[in-house]
Amino acid sequence: MKRDQWKSQMGFVLAAVGSAIGLGNIWRFSYMAYDYGGGAFLIPYLTALMTAGIPLLILEFAVGHERIGSAPLAYAKIRRRWEWLGWWAVTFVMFGIVLYYMVIIAWCLNFFFLSFSLGWGSDPNAFFFQEFLAVSSSPGEIGRIRMPILGALVFLWVVNWAIVHRGVRGGIEKMNKVFMPLLFLLTVALVVWSVSLDGSELGLRAYVTPDFSKLGNPRVWIDAYSQIFFTLSLGFGIMIAYASYLPEKSDITRNALLTALINSGYSLFAGVAVFSVLGFMASSQAKPLSDVVSQSIGLAFIAYPKAISMMPGGSVFGAFFFLCLVVAGLSSSISIIEAFISAAVDKFGFLRSRLVTTVSVLGLVGSVIFTTQAGLLWLDIADHFITHYGLIVVGFAECILVGWIFDIRELRRHLNGTSSFRLGRWWDILIKYFVPLALTVILAGDLIAETAEPYGGYSWISLAAIGWSWLIVTMLTAFFLASRPWRTAHSKLDGRKNSTK
Ligand code: PHE
Repeated sequence: MKRDQWKSQMGFVLAAVGSAIGLGNIWRFSYMAYDYGGGAFLIPYLTALMTAGIPLLILEFAVGHERIGSAPLAYAKIRRRWEWLGWWAVTFVMFGIVLYYMVIIAWCLNFFFLSFSLGWGSDPNAFFFQEFLAVSSSPGEIGRIRMPILGALVFLWVVNWAIVHRGVRGGIEKMNKVFMPLLFLLTVALVVWSVSLDGSELGLRAYVTPDFSKLGNPRVWIDAYSQIFFTLSLGFGIMIAYASYLPEKSDITRNALLTALINSGYSLFAGVAVFSVLGFMASSQAKPLSDVVSQSIGLAFIAYPKAISMMPGGSVFGAFFFLCLVVAGLSSSISIIEAFISAAVDKFGFLRSRLVTTVSVLGLVGSVIFTTQAGLLWLDIADHFITHYGLIVVGFAECILVGWIFDIRELRRHLNGTSSFRLGRWWDILIKYFVPLALTVILAGDLIAETAEPYGGYSWISLAAIGWSWLIVTMLTAFFLASRPWRTAHSKLDGRKNSTK
């Protein structure tokens, strides 16, 4: 069967941006920016973007485009023995990240509806933890399924299924052409609205005033690099699959630069809304800003609802905000499903539409654990392990495979042959030396913190049973899938230029 193709380069860029811009751009970025010295955080953030984010994004686009394949196929075409790496990425992403990511989107959808009646009441903190999630006291106490979350989840999986089912051009590209402009419009509305609130300048000042003293802390740098990794969807196998659907004549490097700049530009812009609202809330309660900022999830589901209840026309503002999160989230989640589907179709030649249905049903069933009363705890542990170890290890291995085992100059020649922006030797150096080194430092920093005390105060047993085992089981699955014979014409495993050695 002929490989599906994007209709236009713009369609591809919008889809890549759709994957990159997600929940992480709105609350994760803003929280980090605040915590790590406001304006000063831009220094590590932009450094990470330039030295690791953009070079790796170029690499993932190049591998998918030059080898014409999803992650496992593209790696197998470089070296057969490395196929497992591609499977590991798409497996822990499809049977890990997307399972809980969908549940967070389901929370957002619930909060979208709650906005109209300000249904979180006067104490959003108690509402969120005790009523909405009804969180249990340990991961072992599963408790009941929370029906409003399950209902939204089923709906969202059906939406995802309907989009991915229609294929790359007919589903994903079309959907992003509607969703991305919608997301930008909603965000502009939110930014304009929030800067006009009384006291917004208090928050904005904190956003742009640099506190350079924070930059001495290695944690700031480690977190900036991990944030860039997560936000650009690197190490997920997504960007490789998306680039494999590009026609031969494609300006790969320019597309990578565009995707990275739009994604980070969006984070910076959305940060204006987040900080203005915090400033408004601090000044109307006459409290210092630090008292109203809450961590990651708390920012969207506790601090924001509080502010929405206080502002004139808050219900509409709330509906816009949560709709923004739903739209940003969905365009990311479909990219994960596609990364897995394209891998399985490449290798086993399954009928795409039937596979999408099977995988969506499995995904829905797998997500259910995160809708229980222990859901938040499971989510926290799974997310910590997969994003801290899975993604970073895949990124590191990619650099070794392409930089050292494959001839990176060949890939650069391919890029320079098709792109308007020419890459110099600096790219080889970043991929061969700098990025692997930076990722090793991050990994070491995380492992040291891990052994010093159990993550999040959970028991060692919970961490082993949920976190480590998630990584190990998906890795074993990857080895198994890689050991299966190729059932498609790709079994010859040659690249665009037929250059497999
Ligand atoms: N880039 C996404 C974000 O910032 C991360 C992500 C990508 C999550 C794809 C899920 C799927 O939220």
